[in-house]
Amino acid sequence: MRAITVTAGVADTLRLDDGWPEPRPEEGAILVESLAVGICGTDHEIVAGEYGQPPPGTDTLVVGHESLGRVLEDPTGTLRPGDLVAGIVRHPDPVPCVNCAVDEWDMCRNGRYTEHGIKELPGFARDRWRVPPPFAVGLDPGLAEVGVLLEPASVVAKAWEHIERIGQRAEWQPKTVLVTGAGPIGLLAALLASQRGLTVHVLDRTTSGPKPALVAALGATYHTGPVAELEVEPDITLECTGAPNVVLDVMCKAGHNGIICLTGVSSGGRTIDFDAGALNRTLVLENNVVFGSVNANRRHWQLAAAALGRADPEWLAGLITRRLPVEAYEQAYTPTADDIKVVLDFTR
Ligand code: BGC
Repeated sequence: MRAITVTAGVADTLRLDDGWPEPRPEEGAILVESLAVGICGTDHEIVAGEYGQPPPGTDTLVVGHESLGRVLEDPTGTLRPGDLVAGIVRHPDPVPCVNCAVDEWDMCRNGRYTEHGIKELPGFARDRWRVPPPFAVGLDPGLAEVGVLLEPASVVAKAWEHIERIGQRAEWQPKTVLVTGAGPIGLLAALLASQRGLTVHVLDRTTSGPKPALVAALGATYHTGPVAELEVEPDITLECTGAPNVVLDVMCKAGHNGIICLTGVSSGGRTIDFDAGALNRTLVLENNVVFGSVNANRRHWQLAAAALGRADPEWLAGLITRRLPVEAYEQAYTPTADDIKVVLDFTR
């Protein structure tokens, strides 16, 4: 069968292997036929050789952590043949740490977790894969075209859950949300904000392409330009660019009791001169909380599936700006200016 692989840690080794072995039974009881795999910034880092670890005993990593498939067989009866399914990315560490012990692998404390297509587990960019029932999430049949967005939506569902838990530290009636970055994570964060009835502002540097209309369709306001010039005092900020100057700017911009959730992974290596004392003064005097959020546990995947089910399917389809057959994998993994989400189509 086909699989898209890299030599982990080595740049530009992305290749399509036509003779990849069938998934081993030990990988999980549920056998899945791949429909689609989404591509994100983490994949680009893996292709550049900057991130990613192969399974033990090999240097080859099957890529792909954003999955959508159809169940071929499930002897456990958890799902039925034909059901739409996505595979949860992260598996708990073997110790397990206190968080992994209670299925909060997204909060793993010792870093020994594994992740499909990223860290020591084969990814989903292959014709067939297997998954153990606790790591399979069934999707509504109506999500066949857009269900590949479940993984980024799960990351955003976790961020929102944690924002709301932090908000409970005192009386909290948030009204205004700022999202920086209108990529898939930012747009899905804005979707979940609009589903909560909040006033949503999205800032991105792009003035053309599909992003402004997608934001407007949520009833949200699209902005370009510096964060500092926004006439908005956000109760909640979701930072989804990872751009160091934007990260600093949103921390300074938060309103009283503001919560700032950082979801963008910066590449590091850039230094900026800034007044740490002034930032500290603002954070303290305004009771601000800045926190990071990564990955998602099963509860978040289920929240995400419900959120996608409530969303307008056409709006969700608008996030997928390129859908390419597996054979065009090189094009798919080469970013272009107007990309939001690029998807590999395994049915072709
Ligand atoms: C994935 C997460 C993963 C993180 C770090 C992100 O791209 O969406 O599931 O935990 O990378 O590896």
